[in-house]
Amino acid sequence: MKSKTCLKLLILKIGGCYACSVFMLIVHFLSQGECSTFNDSFDISWGNDHVKLFNNEQTVELSLDKASGSGFTSKNNYLFGSFNMKIKLIAGNSAGTVTAYYMSSDSSSHDEIDFKFLGNLPGKGYHLQTNVFVNGVGNREQRIRLWFDPSTDFHNYSILWNQKQIVFGVDSIPIRAFKSNESLGIPYPKNRPMKIISTLWNGENWATNGGKVKIDWSKAPFIASFQAFEVDGCVTSASPSPSPSPSPCVGHWWEQPEFEGLSQDQLNKLGWVPKNYMFYDYCKEKSGRFSSVPIECAINP
Ligand SMILES: *[C@@H]1O[C@H](CO)[C@@H](O)[C@H](O)[C@H]1NC(C)=O
Ligand SMILES: *[C@@H]1O[C@H](CO)[C@@H](O)[C@H](O)[C@H]1NC(C)=O
Ligand SMILES: *[C@@H]1O[C@H](CO)[C@@H](O)[C@H](O)[C@H]1NC(C)=O
Repeated sequence: MKSKTCLKLLILKIGGCYACSVFMLIVHFLSQGECSTFNDSFDISWGNDHVKLFNNEQTVELSLDKASGSGFTSKNNYLFGSFNMKIKLIAGNSAGTVTAYYMSSDSSSHDEIDFKFLGNLPGKGYHLQTNVFVNGVGNREQRIRLWFDPSTDFHNYSILWNQKQIVFGVDSIPIRAFKSNESLGIPYPKNRPMKIISTLWNGENWATNGGKVKIDWSKAPFIASFQAFEVDGCVTSASPSPSPSPSPCVGHWWEQPEFEGLSQDQLNKLGWVPKNYMFYDYCKEKSGRFSSVPIECAINP
């Protein structure tokens, strides 16, 4: 399967040579079929007649109306890797809608890595919620505002997931890093392969202003578009038994030392996001939601 795609690999292969990169990019854009298409990696999982493929299957539109939402799911399960999706969100009044890009395992005590875009009234701006579930337990929400209008253009939402950390990125700016630290007893998703999933659905009972603002169905259908599908992960259906059994997915580029933590430049950017754009962080919850501060809060910025 052509799961390794496009730009990243080309750029990695030619290393630091800028001129080569530009040349290869031009070659890339001229050559048809180099990129993996939607059908290479994904199946429509929900609302068949609410999903449209365009542009040689390089763009997918999900739509939501009163009859149904829609979604797609990766054919494969992945244990660690790099997963990027370009998304253009619903324009205008998106209040009550939820556009989700996430990874999830199948099992009941599931693991999940989550981007959820919570729609809003015109001019109010989307809220982006991230979350991490381990062994079926989430409750690790962070919410940020975005520094651009995500409905006018495609932006790149990325998940880097390895044994040491999960990094959520927006246009290559890390907005959240969730670190593993077994010696501190921090729960971390590393035993359950996950599928990549995108969905568009009716979340009006909670998504906007705590559920007070409902969907204006006169604006339906609501449409979100997806592109790029950069999937570079370790394909496996095997759930490795808990450590110390070795994982079947070792030795990939995302396990290299440089991806074990954030670079200073990334840390600076990561500092900038919470300071300016984060308005909810479960680690700062004071309302008695948790009987004690979750342990990972001690090491996650
Ligand atoms: C891609 O998948 C869609 C939806 O299943 C299907 O309608 C279309 O024919 C497929 N395209 C190709 C080239 O296989
Ligand atoms: C998306 O962001 C990731 C992480 O920074 C990057 O590696 C990738 O090349 C980007 N993809 C596109 C299409 O911009
Ligand atoms: C994990 O915890 C140990 C013990 O406190 C500490 O020495 C180490 O630096 C921590 N690792 C990370 C990634 O925070």
